[in-house]
Amino acid sequence: MNAAPLQIVNPSGHLRVVVTKPLPGTHWLEVLIAAGCRIEIATGDDLLTGEEIRALIGEHCHAAIGQLTESWNAALFAALKQAGGRVYSNYAVGYNNVDVTTATACGIPVGNTPGVLTETTAEIAVALTFSASRRIVEADRFMRGGQFKGWLPSLFLGNLFHGKTVGIIGAGRIGEAYARMMVEGHKMNLVYFDPRPNPGLEEFVKAYAAFLTTRGEPAVTCRRAASVDDLLGLADVVSLHTLLDAGSRHLINAQRLTLMKPDAILVNTSRGPVVDEAALVAHCRSHPDFRAGLDVFENEPAMAPGLAGLDNVVMVPHIASATKWTREGMASLAACNVAAILQGHPVATTGEVHPFLSGAPPQAAPSIVNAHELGLA
Ligand code: DGY
Repeated sequence: MNAAPLQIVNPSGHLRVVVTKPLPGTHWLEVLIAAGCRIEIATGDDLLTGEEIRALIGEHCHAAIGQLTESWNAALFAALKQAGGRVYSNYAVGYNNVDVTTATACGIPVGNTPGVLTETTAEIAVALTFSASRRIVEADRFMRGGQFKGWLPSLFLGNLFHGKTVGIIGAGRIGEAYARMMVEGHKMNLVYFDPRPNPGLEEFVKAYAAFLTTRGEPAVTCRRAASVDDLLGLADVVSLHTLLDAGSRHLINAQRLTLMKPDAILVNTSRGPVVDEAALVAHCRSHPDFRAGLDVFENEPAMAPGLAGLDNVVMVPHIASATKWTREGMASLAACNVAAILQGHPVATTGEVHPFLSGAPPQAAPSIVNAHELGLA
């Protein structure tokens, strides 16, 4: 086992916090230093194994900040508990990599970083949608390959979305932001599937439709689909914004792909295993007009065999939240979760994260996913 070289910040701090990767910005460090923390950061880009994280936790550790690429399982929470750990924060909004049940049983609050990824992730879902539909990557490769010999009527024909139907599966914060961008920006009708209705989103589409009508333009519509299958048959583009859990694993499988329009676009910025990637490869092979835009992969960082060879798939390496503002904000929220719990502060109830992003944060933890179970809510 090669121990990752450590960067130590504020060595005289009395509360030891380990961080499994360097994080962007400095505000997060200021928050932890103000709370009396000594911060030990594992440097280097290699993913840490469970054994390496256990070694990093060591014998005395008050808190940890970890990554979505690490499995924070029972063994790690036992090690953290044993070392005196009082809080863990994921450096991510998603926490399917965390065994929250075990953390709760150990009495360890689990933080995450919502709110700062919403528009950022929605923007890349839009970028993937249009990169796929207008074949941007294929066309770029064509240009660089010196293949452009002049304008042609049928060169790189793609799909026009203006006035068509956008479908979202999962109408939480990010799904809603994406839907608004597509409806307002491209005058698309919306169909959404979510076990819970989203009245705010429905109201938005209604108000926008009324605005369009006053201008003599065709109104947009919004409909909550009765099922995923229902939505798949209606939408020209389907964007996935669901959590990964047992119920959403392989939500998009071989059978459901056949329900989609033959020239539809599938966009995934949620979690890779929501799509059966082998089935997607087969479907894209047999349906050349079908396209996909992927930010996440079933077995990251690996790709399913055949995926890399498909021209009708556009891929980026899980960078949906990769803007400086968002990644620095995620670091601030993770640090605020840790600092607040270590200082005995309560968990915030407003859901408003902006006050935590600069200066002295409120005396509260911005987001603890098991707050209710631990009696911290
Ligand atoms: C998250 O936070 O869950 C994203 O996938 C990475 O930023």
